[in-house]
Amino acid sequence: MTEKYKKRMIRKAVIPAAGFGTRLLPATKAQPKEMLPIVDRPAIQYVVEESLHAGLQDILIITGKGKHAIEDHFDRNFELEEELRKSGRHSALDEIRTLTTQARIHYVRQPVLLGLGDAVRYARDHVESESFAVLLGDTLLRPAGSCLKKLVEIHQRTGDAVLAVEEVPADKVERYGILEVDGGRDGEYVVKRIIEKPKREEAPSNLAAAGRYILLPEIFDILDALPPGKNNEVQLTDALQVLAQRGKLRAYRFQGKRYDVGNKMDYVLTIMEYALARPDLKGLHEALEAMLRNGVDVMDEDFPAQGES
Ligand code: G1P
Repeated sequence: MTEKYKKRMIRKAVIPAAGFGTRLLPATKAQPKEMLPIVDRPAIQYVVEESLHAGLQDILIITGKGKHAIEDHFDRNFELEEELRKSGRHSALDEIRTLTTQARIHYVRQPVLLGLGDAVRYARDHVESESFAVLLGDTLLRPAGSCLKKLVEIHQRTGDAVLAVEEVPADKVERYGILEVDGGRDGEYVVKRIIEKPKREEAPSNLAAAGRYILLPEIFDILDALPPGKNNEVQLTDALQVLAQRGKLRAYRFQGKRYDVGNKMDYVLTIMEYALARPDLKGLHEALEAMLRNGVDVMDEDFPAQGES
C-alpha cells in the first residue's frame, strides 16, 4: 500500500446524536430518539453495526443532555449476561456481547445544540489528523455498510471529501441539503454547489445529502470560521459548500434505501420494513394484509389532535 493510500485510510466514525427529537415527543422526553426501537434494536445500534460492516470500529458518539441510555446500551451489563448464561439463552448473550466487544465506542458531549456543523466540531480532538466518516444517528441505510465502503473507496482514490446522496421527490427538497453536480458516471459526481434546505423553486436539483459523509480534518477550521447558517445553526452543509467551491467535494448516489427515523411517519414505516425483512417474523406479511383487509377504525377519542407527523 502506498503512503498516499495509507494516509487516506479511514478508521474512525463519528455519530452525531445530540438532537432533541422533538418530532417524536412525548416518546423522546426522557429517552434519546436514537434509542427508540426498530423492531427489537435501538435505531443507533443499526448505525453502529453499519460502521462495523464497513470496517470502522473506532466510533465516537456525540451526545448531549439526557443521552445516558446510549452509553448504557453499548456498555457491558454483567448481571444480564449472567442471567442469559444461566438460562441458556446463548444467542441473545452472543449478540449483546459481540457488539460491545467489536465496537470501540467513545463519547463526547455537545453542550449547546448549535447545529450539525457545531456537533461535528466536537470530534476534533478524537480524530486528530485523520480523515473520518460521519453517520447521522437518526438515519439508517440498507444494505448496511455498502454505501460507506464506497464512500471510503472514493475518498481513497481522489483524496476529496465525499457524501452520499439520493434523489428525493421535488416537494421534499426543503428538508435536505441539495446539490448541484457534474458527472454522474457510476453514480459518482463532482459537487459544484450544496445548499441547506432550499425553497423548492431555489433547489438546483433533487439530489439530497443522505446522512453519510467522509471528511478530512480541514473541515474543523472551515466550521470554526463559519457564521451561523439556516435556522441560525452552524450547518455542516455550509462547510461542504466551501469545499465544493474549491472543487474538493464529491458525491455518490448510493444503491439502496435510506430510512429517516426522526419523524413519526417514516419511523413507523421503517419499523414495518425492517420487520418485514426479518426471517424470525415470517408471518407478519400475512398478518398485516389481514389487518388492512379487515380495516382499522380511526379512533378520534383515543388519539385527539396529534399535530405534525
Ligand atoms: C441534516 C443535514 C442535511 C441532510 C439531512 C439528511 O439535516 O443538515 O443536509 O440532507 O441531515 O437526513 P437534518 O435532518 O438534521 O435537519
